[in-house]
Amino acid sequence: MHYQKILVTGGAGFIGSNFVREVLQKEQQVQITVLDKMTYAANPANLAGLPSDRFRLVVGDICDADLVDQLISQSDAVINFAAESHNDRSLANPTPFLSTNIIGTYTLLEAVRQYQVRYHHVSTDEVYGDLPIESNEQFTEQSAYQPSSPYSATKASSDLLVKAWVRSFGINATISNSSNNYGPYQHVEKLIPRTITNILAGQRPKVYGSGQQVRDWLHVADHVRGLIAALERGQAGQTYLFGANTERNNQSVIEEILRQMGHPTDWLDHVADRPGHDQRYALNAERTKQELGWTPIMTDFSAGLAETISWYRSHSDWWASSKKVTETKYQSKFQSAD
Ligand code: NAD
Ligand code: DAU
Repeated sequence: MHYQKILVTGGAGFIGSNFVREVLQKEQQVQITVLDKMTYAANPANLAGLPSDRFRLVVGDICDADLVDQLISQSDAVINFAAESHNDRSLANPTPFLSTNIIGTYTLLEAVRQYQVRYHHVSTDEVYGDLPIESNEQFTEQSAYQPSSPYSATKASSDLLVKAWVRSFGINATISNSSNNYGPYQHVEKLIPRTITNILAGQRPKVYGSGQQVRDWLHVADHVRGLIAALERGQAGQTYLFGANTERNNQSVIEEILRQMGHPTDWLDHVADRPGHDQRYALNAERTKQELGWTPIMTDFSAGLAETISWYRSHSDWWASSKKVTETKYQSKFQSAD
């Protein structure tokens, strides 16, 4: 790894913690500082057992300019995972999304500009809006930004800030937009872990609306490999797209999980649809593959699901307490404060 002192913001969440563990294991000379607000989405267990001479956790907010300034002045690269990341929550209460996703990114960019530190911004395919279910169309790096939800609108805003800081101030920044991730350490509010843990807890999985909406599922380990390549080899101002061409509709994902867990495939409830529900996401990752020399390798979705189910089965202590809180939140449609 070219960079030795890396600041990982939001590193106690799902993708960030998978990134931190992988980099510390593979790159013996790298030191990582995680800056994380430890919101409901973070779990200290995600970062347990890491080498204390090369890893530290600073609990704080990416909107705190003094703290951000101090940490970035001590770093030679920043990778930003910190975000409010759940669409359903953003529909109930957009406020923390505006603060963390927009003001937080702005705060990081100003410090990056001052100390001329390399910056990689972790973003989502949702900035491009959605595609018709019955089409083969895919988003490319040139697709127009057309976000649908408060969450994706704030992620799109943060991407635009990064692009403006590259053009106006010449910062060395890159952006990546990824499709839906799955794998270990994902919060139980998200479709795959929610479905698995519902079944483990004896509750029927929930299908929003028709269940025909399509997502492209990328294993988090493949995303992490792509992010390492983007951080090391990405060219300032470029966008990289991480997708796996593993498109599935939600109903079929839930049915496959039910099958693998030994339940009838109709043991599910259809519930109210998500307002403004994006129909289909699909990315064309060809240019990214060529430029970064990256390709997803965990593309057997059934095998990836089996491994993920097995992880949640053997980590009930990791998810049990947040499961109760999350399902209560789902019942109140995330209207109550955290
Ligand atoms: P997550 O919700 O699991 O983790 C987010 C982390 O950010 C948590 O540890 C949280 O405590 C921290 N955080 C929140 N607000 C903060 C603040 N103000 N200051 C510091 N830390 C704060 O999210 P994730 O699924 O790991 O996603 C990480 C990034 O990847 C996000 O930017 C998300 O938009 C993007 N992304 C996620 C997916 C996916 O499928 N999960 C796909 C594409 C892109
Ligand atoms: O595309 C990338 C995005 O993927 C990321 O930017 C987001 O951070 C991440 O949360 C994810 O967004 P989605 O909204 O696609 O993920 P979620 O797991 O919430 O839902 C996946 C699909 O499943 C979506 O169409 C809604 C549906 N769903 C979700 C839940 C939780 C259900 O049908 N039932 C459920 O219980």
